[in-house]
Amino acid sequence: MSYDFGGDTFDLDNPEDRATVRFVLSQALYGEATGVYCGKSLYAARSLEAAKFYVRQAHQELNHLQLFAEIFRELGMQPEPGHWVIRLLSAHNNYYPLKVLMEHALGEGMVLDIFRDVLLQTLPDSDPRVPVIKKKLRAVCREEEEHVAWGEKETRRILAESPWLKTPFYGLLELQLLVAPLVARAFEGREHRVLRHLPGFIASIKTRMWAQGQALGFVPAERPGLPFRLWAMLWGAALFVRSQFARSSSKLEHIYLGELGFTGASATNLTTPAGSAP
Ligand SMILES: [Fe+2]
Ligand SMILES: [Fe+2]
Repeated sequence: MSYDFGGDTFDLDNPEDRATVRFVLSQALYGEATGVYCGKSLYAARSLEAAKFYVRQAHQELNHLQLFAEIFRELGMQPEPGHWVIRLLSAHNNYYPLKVLMEHALGEGMVLDIFRDVLLQTLPDSDPRVPVIKKKLRAVCREEEEHVAWGEKETRRILAESPWLKTPFYGLLELQLLVAPLVARAFEGREHRVLRHLPGFIASIKTRMWAQGQALGFVPAERPGLPFRLWAMLWGAALFVRSQFARSSSKLEHIYLGELGFTGASATNLTTPAGSAP
């Protein structure tokens, strides 16, 4: 389902092209810095499987952060701060179901779109600096694929436990599809062989995310009418705002005996029900 840039690439010796690549890489660097906070998911992990995954992920995200810093140095570039949309989309919250959906499933899915489709296709192989950079990017992409797969698996589990989350999850997807394209505004009206692909690329992300939401079971087969969409967005936004003030609660000390397989211990002695509201 990758978008095809038709072999159009940036020129890493052209100052305007370098500014564009620097912008994209800077968003990636910011995203990787926030990715390290999957440690928050570790605190709320409800199973040993989840805890093991988040420990591994935190290690990988720290490594990605270093790899992107190396890419900046290889290209002789200085990073710039993250765009406000990226900062908003990667904002943390302590409400585990939202963190799983927005960061691990949807967020890292978009990250993968940018890394795999944009960076791997539009950095020119003819530039002697690029092969080693692409080798790093391919390693990052393989791990991001694992992160998305985990996010999707965990989203399915959360929705099976708390089906009421389907409507706010759908609303949050609609909101993300509204907000995410604003990042591309910086390039509007620019005549460039790569940038002319932006509308098509954004459309491909929307199609992929829509299909992802349907496969996860919270996006209806047919797009609902405006009243329901607005209702779902309002609910999603309210849950997001509420989650910003939620307190994270640790889980492992309540479930470790059952999770380690000790008889008589049960994983049901949790004080907080699964997927409960923040
Ligand atoms: Fe990462
Ligand atoms: Fe990741």
